[in-house]
Amino acid sequence: MHSQISDSSIRRRSLSALRLALIIAALCALAMVLVNESTHMRATQVLQEVEQANQMRTTISSLTRALTEAESNQRGYTLTGDRRYLEPYDNALNEIVRLRKTLETPQATSMFNLSTLLSFRSFMSEKMSEMALTVRMREDNRPEVVDFVVTSNVGLEQMAAFRAQSDELLSQADTYIQERRQELQRLLNVSRLGLVAGVLAAFVAFFLHLKQTRAMQRASEAHQNALEAERDALESQVRERTTRLAELATHLQQAVEDERAHLARELHDELGALLTAAKLDVARLKSRLPPDATDLAERLKHLTETLNQGIALKRRIIEDLRPSSLSNLGLVASLEILCREFADRSGLHVQTALEPVELDSAAELTIYRMVQEALTNIGKYAEAKNIRVVLKNYVYHAEVSITDDGRGFDPSALPQSSHGLVGMRHRVEAGGGRLDINSGAGRGTRITGTVPRGQARAQSQLATASGAMSVNSYARETTSPTPDTAHG
Ligand SMILES: Nc1ncnc2c1ncn2[C@@H]1O[C@H](COP(=O)(O)OP(=O)(O)O)[C@@H](O)[C@H]1O
Ligand SMILES: [Mg+2]
Repeated sequence: MHSQISDSSIRRRSLSALRLALIIAALCALAMVLVNESTHMRATQVLQEVEQANQMRTTISSLTRALTEAESNQRGYTLTGDRRYLEPYDNALNEIVRLRKTLETPQATSMFNLSTLLSFRSFMSEKMSEMALTVRMREDNRPEVVDFVVTSNVGLEQMAAFRAQSDELLSQADTYIQERRQELQRLLNVSRLGLVAGVLAAFVAFFLHLKQTRAMQRASEAHQNALEAERDALESQVRERTTRLAELATHLQQAVEDERAHLARELHDELGALLTAAKLDVARLKSRLPPDATDLAERLKHLTETLNQGIALKRRIIEDLRPSSLSNLGLVASLEILCREFADRSGLHVQTALEPVELDSAAELTIYRMVQEALTNIGKYAEAKNIRVVLKNYVYHAEVSITDDGRGFDPSALPQSSHGLVGMRHRVEAGGGRLDINSGAGRGTRITGTVPRGQARAQSQLATASGAMSVNSYARETTSPTPDTAHG
């Protein structure tokens, strides 16, 4: 009982530990998914930023190139007055106007140093308005502009300064891109670490699961073993008690037989002597009666009859208590008498087929008592018309069967209070034999007893004593009667 409780508590504990491990594993998996998802989103964003930074870089380069081109075309036009310069000049300006919008996006302000960006833009605007002024003055044919352009170095210096700023912006973009690349690297590392951690967590969960499963298996095995041990102990206890009960039953049956024999002796010796003495006295009285005392003679006659009835009753009781015919006339004759008397008493038709058998007195008494009890039962319960008692002789055993065509019964559902059949079975089995009860509602009853002889008897008794024939055989046999043999 105790082991059962501790086993179930071990199992409960293992189960809750397993549940905890699984919950932790599930949480790890969830955390991993979240980390992975967020790094993935951030990485996508960073890649987008890098892409935009690259575009911004291209824009700065294109702006610088366009401004340079516009400046050189403006210079060409100013020096030569050739209007063919004006077309690429205008194109370059349009290009600048288009590209310049990009620099006003929040992307650009987050990427670049604000002051550099502002001065780049304002320089560009200044340069453009200055070029527009020069071009307009050239169109108005004012020669001092040409002179100024030819002689001064201002344009070149301005452009060099502008290029320096553009380089500065480009390098800022490079730095920005570099930073994003590093972040990307970091994100990749996080992702990788997350993956490794996830795999490790899965391994740990799997390992824990295995451990718990094994622990549970062990616990259930231990539980099983404890149960088996308990069952074995109970079984051996049952066996031992059964043996003791069987011994007790044998002893009681023997005691009953001894008591009956004692009673029979007493009745025979004491009551028999008394009744015989009384009969002698009556005979003596009769001989001395005067011839005219007819009334007294009548009374004495009646007394003699009563005494005779008493003697007959005494004989019957003695015979019932201890069948003296068994030792005097043998089993077959005793059974014949038993059956005839039963037939006379009950008015039923009893058919006998009795082969002479050679058995020891104990086996003979067993068979006699068996037939006696079977006939009593038939008289009490069977409502039969025909009865057949058969005794057969075999090499190693004798077989007796009592068959009736009565109402039958279910041998597996005997009432608790009935001991006749149980005692019959016990007596037969204690002598090394076996008893079969074949009956069913509406199909009569046949009770067959097999009693071993001589050597076989000693061997069977040995087997019975060592417990080979357990009480279970009673239930086993009675629950499965061979059908339709009762009338056979
Ligand atoms: N030949 C029979 N026909 C019908 N029923 C029987 C017969 N023999 C026994 N029984 C049934 O089996 C029961 C048990 O019989 P038994 O063990 O001799 O106990 P008891 O005679 O003390 O009642 C009886 O109560 C009866 O119902
Ligand atoms: Mg009975």
